[in-house]
Amino acid sequence: MNKPIQIAVVGSGYVGLVAAVCFAEIGHDVVCVDNDERKVAALESGDTLIHERHLPELLMRYRGSRIRFTADLHEATSGSDAIFIAVGTPQSETGDADLSYVEAVACEIARSLTSYKVIVEKSTVPVYTNEWIRRAIERNGVARHLFDVVSNPEFLREGTAVQDFMHPDRIVVGADSEAAAALLADIYAPLTSGVYYARPDAIPGARSTAHPPPLLQTSTKSAEIIKHASNAFLALKISFINAVSNLCEATDANIEQVARGIGLDSRIGPRFLRPGIGYGGSCFPKDVAAFRSVADQLGIDFGLLTEIEKINTLQKKRFLSKVRSALWTLRGKRLGVLGLAFKGETDDIRESPAIDLVEMLLAEGCSIAAYDPAAIKRTQQELPAGPQLRYVEDAYAAARDADALLVLTDWAEFAALDLKRLYTVMRYPIVVDGRNLFDPKVMHDQGFTYISIGRPAVYPARDAELATPAAI
Ligand code: UDX
Ligand code: UDX
Repeated sequence: MNKPIQIAVVGSGYVGLVAAVCFAEIGHDVVCVDNDERKVAALESGDTLIHERHLPELLMRYRGSRIRFTADLHEATSGSDAIFIAVGTPQSETGDADLSYVEAVACEIARSLTSYKVIVEKSTVPVYTNEWIRRAIERNGVARHLFDVVSNPEFLREGTAVQDFMHPDRIVVGADSEAAAALLADIYAPLTSGVYYARPDAIPGARSTAHPPPLLQTSTKSAEIIKHASNAFLALKISFINAVSNLCEATDANIEQVARGIGLDSRIGPRFLRPGIGYGGSCFPKDVAAFRSVADQLGIDFGLLTEIEKINTLQKKRFLSKVRSALWTLRGKRLGVLGLAFKGETDDIRESPAIDLVEMLLAEGCSIAAYDPAAIKRTQQELPAGPQLRYVEDAYAAARDADALLVLTDWAEFAALDLKRLYTVMRYPIVVDGRNLFDPKVMHDQGFTYISIGRPAVYPARDAELATPAAI
């Protein structure tokens, strides 16, 4: 085992907390800082605050030994070799990333810098942020030889964050100094050497001792662009497949077959080709906008990014039209909603297309019974229950007496629902599935009207006559 490195992680959100706990898991001593005292207290008591697999067990294992929590940035950073900045970088009104938290943290770090430290930007930030952090620290009177700033973007997905961190496709380190690059290489050595994967208690995943992840060293600017470009490219894949799914709908082709046919081309690959109601979350919407803004500022015409966003917005509207065409009119209709989180296996509702759709449907005068396995608490804070909106305890309660059931989030739990039971509790057996969780043939056989994305709709025998153009 290599010598533990003293690490401070500033910001205990989805990225910071996962990184902190994973650094402890690979043997380092970590102090996690957050300016939200309530968060610090909760984490200290062992509450992870977010729904993320493996996180509770790892926190339990290292809390009070290799990982501790504090609101005191000065105290946390003074004893650390590396300081990771993982505070949020929300979208500002103009679409740019709002870097005020990053700047505030950089200035505060500067005030307590007395010995050499490597400051690592982990938050997703636009190109040149690294330089701005360096300048901010220098402006606060810190000598240049006392610090380096490197960029080490994080590629974890919520829901599988710990596994993604421990089994990454690649680790990117953007560093313009050899000393800083060497420290980062030491931090990740348990992964890149493969040693970690030989442990009997290692978090399971795709990587192994024989196939450890590569560490790609780049310039700081390249690393910053790699992060934005990766997220924009993934968003592009989703918007592309969503546009193709619309074409499939217009021609009675089947997007599942088409996506498979495209994805088997190894140059394209099968992942991120699932059609749906559009991408959401704390990253894709914000990062595509921020990347576009970077291009604008640099005088580069990157109109493709605008198209990605446009298709994404249209996809939600198309889903609303589907619900309308299934029900004829919307006012006064009773809808069951399955899913509020921006995707399955997380409680995060930031930029959730499911919430956007719930809001659109409420505005149309529908009444909604909504269920999500993990995101109800957070949703209630934004959208309190009222005469038109109820939160219910399970999927069957959402479906009870509904005129239609809408699937808005791809929770595995929904795909395993008892269809016979669903059929019996609903007022009309109509399912509009924004995530293609069910097999149309099975839905047909169970007597549902089933409308999904990019696949021919299916109707039970009597409704099928009504659905044919001749009957209209
Ligand atoms: C992360 C990344 O940092 C962001 O760049 C990326 O694009 C999305 O994911 P995330 O971890 O999801 O953000 O953010 P959030 O859950 O909002 O956590 C940020 C944490 O930083 C919060 O706990 C907040 O209290 C803390 N914070 C914020 C500070 O400690 N100090 C500050 O000055 C600001
Ligand atoms: C994303 C990136 O994948 C990750 O590398 C980065 O670090 C943070 O942003 P995350 O936002 O957690 O991760 O979720 P992701 O699984 O990428 O899904 C984002 C959105 O795209 C979700 O709304 C999801 O439902 C949607 N999506 C994803 C699709 O609609 N189709 C797909 O094929 C994949």
